[in-house]
Amino acid sequence: MTKEVYSKIGVWLLFTLLISNYVVDLEASHHVYKRLTQSTNIKSPAGNQPYRTGFHFQPPKNWMNDPNGPMIYKGIYHLFYQWNPKGAVWGNIVWAHSTSTDLINWDPHPPAIFPSEPFDINGCWSGSVTILPNGKPVILYTGINPKNQQVQNIAEPKNLSDPYLVEWTKSPLNPLMAPDAVNGINASSFRDPTTAWLGHDKKWRVIIGSKIHRRGLAITYTSKDFLKWEKSTEPLHYDDGSGMWECPDFFPVTRFGSNGVETSSFGEPNETLKHVLKVSLDDTKHDYYTIGTYDRVGDKFVPDKGFKMDSSAPRYDYGKYYASKTFYDSAKNRRILWGWTNESSSVEDDVEKGWSGIQTIPRKIWLDRSGKQLIQWPVREVERLRTNQVNLRNKVLDSRSRLEVYGVTAAQADVEVLFKVRDLEKADVMEPSWTDPQLICSRMNVSVKSGLGPFGLMVLASKNLEEHTSVYFRIFKASQNSNKYVVVMCSDQSRSSLEEENDKTTYGAFVDVNPHQPLSLRALIDNSVVESFGGRGRACITSRVYPKLAIGKSSHLYAFNYGLQSVDVLNLSAWSMNSAQIS
Ligand SMILES: *[C@@H]1O[C@H](CO)[C@@H](O)[C@H](O)[C@H]1NC(C)=O
Ligand SMILES: *[C@@H]1O[C@H](CO)[C@@H](O)[C@H](O)[C@H]1NC(C)=O
Ligand SMILES: *[C@@H]1O[C@H](CO)[C@@H](O)[C@H](O)[C@H]1NC(C)=O
Ligand SMILES: *[C@@H]1O[C@H](CO)[C@@H](O)[C@H](O)[C@H]1NC(C)=O
Ligand SMILES: *[C@@H]1O[C@H](CO)[C@@H](O)[C@H](O)[C@H]1NC(C)=O
Ligand SMILES: *[C@@H]1O[C@H](CO)[C@@H](O)[C@H](O)[C@H]1NC(C)=O
Repeated sequence: MTKEVYSKIGVWLLFTLLISNYVVDLEASHHVYKRLTQSTNIKSPAGNQPYRTGFHFQPPKNWMNDPNGPMIYKGIYHLFYQWNPKGAVWGNIVWAHSTSTDLINWDPHPPAIFPSEPFDINGCWSGSVTILPNGKPVILYTGINPKNQQVQNIAEPKNLSDPYLVEWTKSPLNPLMAPDAVNGINASSFRDPTTAWLGHDKKWRVIIGSKIHRRGLAITYTSKDFLKWEKSTEPLHYDDGSGMWECPDFFPVTRFGSNGVETSSFGEPNETLKHVLKVSLDDTKHDYYTIGTYDRVGDKFVPDKGFKMDSSAPRYDYGKYYASKTFYDSAKNRRILWGWTNESSSVEDDVEKGWSGIQTIPRKIWLDRSGKQLIQWPVREVERLRTNQVNLRNKVLDSRSRLEVYGVTAAQADVEVLFKVRDLEKADVMEPSWTDPQLICSRMNVSVKSGLGPFGLMVLASKNLEEHTSVYFRIFKASQNSNKYVVVMCSDQSRSSLEEENDKTTYGAFVDVNPHQPLSLRALIDNSVVESFGGRGRACITSRVYPKLAIGKSSHLYAFNYGLQSVDVLNLSAWSMNSAQIS
């Protein structure tokens, strides 16, 4: 993904640590902190590290961004990721590599792919794995050549008997796909190959993210042998006005149930499957998806009515979440989604703590019965870290009340709660102009009462609530005389830390649920990250917070209701979470 040729060079002095470090401003991309990326005396994260996570994937130190080429091979899960071996800011990117038997505990290996040849000497950027019909996994990735052009390369495992696939060989035929004078591809906007799929004519297809002017594009290439690739004249899909499409992902989902389907499946009959196209929009730094039909003969993706592949499309996650990628887990017959969450702290803080970036807990992803949205849920394996369960049943949360959940390690916990509102008639009426849930949430922060809500969880809270992150719902009537309701889910970070410098944006999402039914909320709390799932995975919000007081044993957890009407907690379960073995 990202980063263009060093274009506008802006040098500015950042106080304290950054004095005299160049900042090269990459167009709509990562900043390049020139000297910091080369720094030799990297501190290993040690000592006081209250913000390192206990069960989220993160490398022992330095910068991490996109997940790359996730797969399962001989029963071992592999995760590669964009990593800077030399510092806590973006730069010097290699494919770092870890493996796992359960997607939660991870063993590190040496970087699988690093700059070594003319076709990738300036960087080994994002890409995907395809498992060939003979079981052999191959990597397609974007390399940056000496002219700073983006090209697509292949790498293969050196030893297929090694389930850890520690060593990878780059083909001498690289690059397999390159921008040239005749194919009209923009050499600085041509990256992030997907997992390939087999078409109706037994030829492989792969798409590459691109743009021409403001048109975002998924360029299709086809191949018989996976080595000689030909650009199709028409893209799989495009949208005028959405800008660069990074990290595209294209995969089938079944219309019936939550099982995953292999990427080359087309369904028999075809009515059993839908296809999903996801793109990461460089302009907004969010991941959007549309559901539609794959026309196999024309090699076109046709979004269903109501979907448009731009920033009006639904998002996987309405908080911090980017450059995500799915893979089909053949061992458990499910599709799994990985996504990167960056820091909300300053670059100085990242350098000071010696690391930046985490991966969210892998999520199972499937199509809702309605066919209109995807559902995500943390993989079940994470539940093995649960310990010390606490249960609360049938509690009434009166207007403006809080209920502390005792007995769990509140800084590292998993909480699931079922709320029930008594009288939907008491809901306030939605203003017609309230179309942006994030705006609703930031205008109506947690201290603003409404008829129904805010009610939810207050996490990473200090004793006297000087600090807290609130994840909550509000329910509105769609209009004065209607019996339709709108459920809004918010994650309010505005009081998450006494530290002033962090990004404390409040996030919001609409949750497509029946408000007559109990409303569920789950939060995975892990020191500096809160991953929240509303309506059993119908809306997800990930946030990063850096409390000063509410750390470790000084962190508290509450269910709360600050709305005007009382709300029932039908069932709340909370668990302390053990730390995973990572790195
Ligand atoms: C390939 O991997 C297997 C399993 O780890 C190992 O036994 C074998 O020695 C390796 N072969 C080579 C040539 O490294
Ligand atoms: C090619 O990409 C670069 C980098 O994003 C951009 O500056 C330029 O305008 C693009 N050219 C076209 C024709 O889209
Ligand atoms: C299924 O295939 C038939 C025949 O090729 C086509 O007419 C129909 O539109 C397809 N339906 C879907 C949902 O792809
Ligand atoms: C990372 O975080 C910053 C600030 O919190 C944000 O502005 C930026 O767009 C984020 N996302 C990516 C993908 O860089
Ligand atoms: C919450 O909103 C109220 C009313 O708009 C405002 O007075 C208050 O400052 C806000 N609090 C925070 C922490 O943003
Ligand atoms: C309540 O929580 C317990 C413990 O997690 C669970 O077994 C039960 O199914 C829950 N009930 C409901 C209605 O969610």
